[in-house]
Amino acid sequence: MKAIVVTDEAAGTAGMKLVERAEPDAAGNDVVVQVHASGFTPGELTWPGTWTDRLGRDRTPSIPGHEVAGVVSALGYGTRGLSVGQRVFGLADWTRDGTLAEYVAVEARNLAPLPGDVDFTVGASLPISGLTAWQGLFVHGRFQAGQSVLVHGAAGGVGSMVTQLAREAGAYVIGTGRAADRQTALDFGAQEFVDLDNDSLEDVDGVDLVFDVIGGDIGKRSVGLIRAGGMLVTIAGPPEAQPAVGLAVDFVVEADRAQLSEVVQRVRDGELRTNIGNVSTLDNAVAAFNPTERLKGKTIIRVRP
Ligand SMILES: NC(=O)c1ccc[n+]([C@@H]2O[C@H](COP(=O)([O-])OP(=O)(O)OC[C@H]3O[C@@H](n4cnc5c(N)ncnc54)[C@H](OP(=O)(O)O)[C@@H]3O)[C@@H](O)[C@H]2O)c1
Repeated sequence: MKAIVVTDEAAGTAGMKLVERAEPDAAGNDVVVQVHASGFTPGELTWPGTWTDRLGRDRTPSIPGHEVAGVVSALGYGTRGLSVGQRVFGLADWTRDGTLAEYVAVEARNLAPLPGDVDFTVGASLPISGLTAWQGLFVHGRFQAGQSVLVHGAAGGVGSMVTQLAREAGAYVIGTGRAADRQTALDFGAQEFVDLDNDSLEDVDGVDLVFDVIGGDIGKRSVGLIRAGGMLVTIAGPPEAQPAVGLAVDFVVEADRAQLSEVVQRVRDGELRTNIGNVSTLDNAVAAFNPTERLKGKTIIRVRP
């Protein structure tokens, strides 16, 4: 099969190569998915699981991409809950070969059925951003209706999902990002926007929850905006500062079939829009992940037409 591989962490996306690889076998509880569309997050090339397996052994050349939408083509021993020919989407395991390939082996529990009226391209754009937003808000952030949420990177993949889910759940949402992203963040439902290059973050009134996708200095400065009893939820690594009277949580998104179904149902109901930018083919994927200009929205690789 055709697949994109990486061998050199320092090279980043420039080190991606299109190669021929053997098709994966389904291990116990796995399914093999014939990939129709694949999503990739640039950050994953800095994650240890891209380079080593769970025992710390080198697993390069590894296939990146962890979001998948496709059709089940084989079942492993003991696999339950999915059948051959079924449309599915979900999150492939971090420490195994990923979805920028014609086939991927995934634990069945990491996938959910993809309804027939949801396009594969949309399905592949949802798992990381949708699950991260859902888990950050409702699982780790313990969000309640009526709370205010500051969403960093509100026009980005995760931030746009957080903005929409928070609004739908009854939040007052303040989005942040670059000047050029103001209208996009407002269109996704932010009620205010802070341009991080030109406005003062410190002018924001106290909020109940900060959802940080940026970290560093922005993360540190955000802690001072959190009301007593509020929370910092971050996906940008361990927080460098803690709220004075409140909690800070950093987490890595996990696969969850029930949450995937919640997210996709909102897409079908028209309550959630995905942030898809460029759609490319597997043959052109290396170029698509090395753009010469800043792209808006998530790049999805359509592996089959
Ligand atoms: N822990 C987890 O489970 C988890 C899950 C998903 C994602 N992540 C990580 O979270 C981060 C965000 O992911 P994403 O998919 O949402 O990325 P994304 O689509 O690139 O969105 C990030 C947004 O924040 C903006 N931004 C970043 N730094 C900024 C700064 N200093 N000032 C103003 N705006 C800034 C970006 O603008 P520019 O494009 O102009 O920089 C972009 O609009 C990535 O690092 C990703 O690896 C972690």
